[in-house]
Amino acid sequence: MALRKIVQEGDPVLGKKCRPITEINDHIKMVLDDMIDTLRDSGGIGLAAPQVGILRRMVVIELDDVLYELINPEFVETEGDQFEIEACLSVPDLMGRVHRPARVKVRAQNREGEWKEYEGTDLLARAFCHELDHLDGILYTSKAEELYDHDPEEDEE
Ligand code: CO
Repeated sequence: MALRKIVQEGDPVLGKKCRPITEINDHIKMVLDDMIDTLRDSGGIGLAAPQVGILRRMVVIELDDVLYELINPEFVETEGDQFEIEACLSVPDLMGRVHRPARVKVRAQNREGEWKEYEGTDLLARAFCHELDHLDGILYTSKAEELYDHDPEEDEE
């Protein structure tokens, strides 16, 4: 198990557009494994590669005991609207309300290189949108219409 340091807001790496992954080699798989360890250790739902300082298009999300490893993810369809609270491991002292599609369909490669489609509604749709935004250097705080102070310690209760 290898934990990576989560880059915090203010670091320019979080504002950069990530490059596609052309070869899913051992290094990429190792970073993915570290991202999963780091995500699980953090108690969050999703983590994008730039959040561990890697400017490549990959994301991990874990929700309801399902792990999504998304390499080169892109939207296939989006539909509807939701306006719910988000938080980000790179912005631990804030939370905010963001408009997102109510349902999204995403395609991505898995670690075997196979393209798969994933559909999400509610929180999963928000997680897909939030994490894919990270790959384009976009933090949810730039889209949030309402921001609130957030004390991560309170989540322990
Ligand atoms: Co985030």
